[in-house]
Amino acid sequence: METMQVVPRTVLVTGGCGFIGANLVQALCRRGDVRVVNLDKLTYAGNPENLAELPPGAPYEFVRGDIGDAALMAHLLEHHRPEAILNLAAESHVDRSIHGPAAFVETNLTGTFQLLEAARAYYGGLKGAAAQAFRFLHVSTDEVYGSLGPQDPAFTERTAYQPNSPYSASKAGSDHLVRAYFHTYGLPTLVTNCSNNYGPYQHPEKLVPLVIFRALEGQPLPVYGDGKQVRDWLYVEDHCKAILRVLERGRPGETYNIGGRSERTNLQVVQAICDILDQTQPPRKHAPHARLIQFVADRPGHDRRYAVDCAKIRSELDWRPEATFESGLTQTVHWYLRHGTWLEHARSANHQDWLRTNYQHRVAG
Ligand code: NAD
Ligand code: TYD
Repeated sequence: METMQVVPRTVLVTGGCGFIGANLVQALCRRGDVRVVNLDKLTYAGNPENLAELPPGAPYEFVRGDIGDAALMAHLLEHHRPEAILNLAAESHVDRSIHGPAAFVETNLTGTFQLLEAARAYYGGLKGAAAQAFRFLHVSTDEVYGSLGPQDPAFTERTAYQPNSPYSASKAGSDHLVRAYFHTYGLPTLVTNCSNNYGPYQHPEKLVPLVIFRALEGQPLPVYGDGKQVRDWLYVEDHCKAILRVLERGRPGETYNIGGRSERTNLQVVQAICDILDQTQPPRKHAPHARLIQFVADRPGHDRRYAVDCAKIRSELDWRPEATFESGLTQTVHWYLRHGTWLEHARSANHQDWLRTNYQHRVAG
């Protein structure tokens, strides 16, 4: 298939009320030249408040529903006739996948399958330029590649899949299905595998917002195991730019790795958040925050290191991360400080249950 520049007029985003989805919907709406239909099931992770700051009159429509609902997906595609589907709907938290893997198989694997089926039927009815322009972009994770040793080279698009958690296994399965729909049915698919994101609107179950709100309250900051696990931190705005670059210029059938070129241990991340909070004015009640760090029982099957080689997206699509870890994290911490009400609402009853489920059994080490 030939490479061409695709400029969609209507896109269907799934999972647009989640962390990355909401940042992406906002980025698309800021462009002003594209209509966004956001299909989201509003699970515990979906938060309509993430899109409360969309400009009034933005070309945007929300539909509550499940990517696994075949009839709904067929109807949405026929009704809105998008030039692109951006699939971000997923169960996304590794620790939850350990406590309850079923939902991960249901949404990440079966749901993606149903969405692919709907897209295949819709694409089959497109003709000429509409068929040429259509894209199905699937957002995935670097966790499908498994765990690296300290000296191993970073993941490339050719690294073998070795998922270790129910989350990463379900994402790996979905990536394989997407690949198969390209090779078997000619559906013009794109897959992106990104590293750990951080930034505004992230659910407070994830490390960065969790540490921020707990530090502000003077609560222990739980670090799993020895805290020396390494992640490659990617600022969410850079990630959204990369997704749109892949959508517009990526070659169908290809996958693109997206990373932040910012490998840090978990302990370094927690320490960096504490340092930023220590420096805010007026001085905070619980400073210095690093004294709140508490080592707790490790995550079963905890991957030791992820690192992403983004040479392909850099050389083929001229994308690279703009934020440094320091600039992105500083902006992020300040965003959460300015959005106390958002954080309070995101820490709903469900979140309190989760804190008990995930942390109560972890004895301090
Ligand atoms: P998130 O958990 O914050 O949001 C997921 C969204 O999907 C929520 O709004 C939820 O309501 C919705 N959803 C869940 N099941 C659904 C279903 N069956 N039908 C429709 N909507 C459903 O997740 P996120 O962090 O924004 O991640 C988005 C995507 O990026 C996921 O595919 C995830 O695997 C991938 N990813 C995330 C990261 C990260 O660091 N956050 C890293 C790599 C890859
Ligand atoms: P997380 O934000 O859950 O992302 P992922 O598991 O997808 O990488 O966790 C990031 C890292 O932080 C991961 O190595 C687990 C670790 N972690 C902690 O040490 N303590 C915590 O309370 C949480 C939620 C995560």
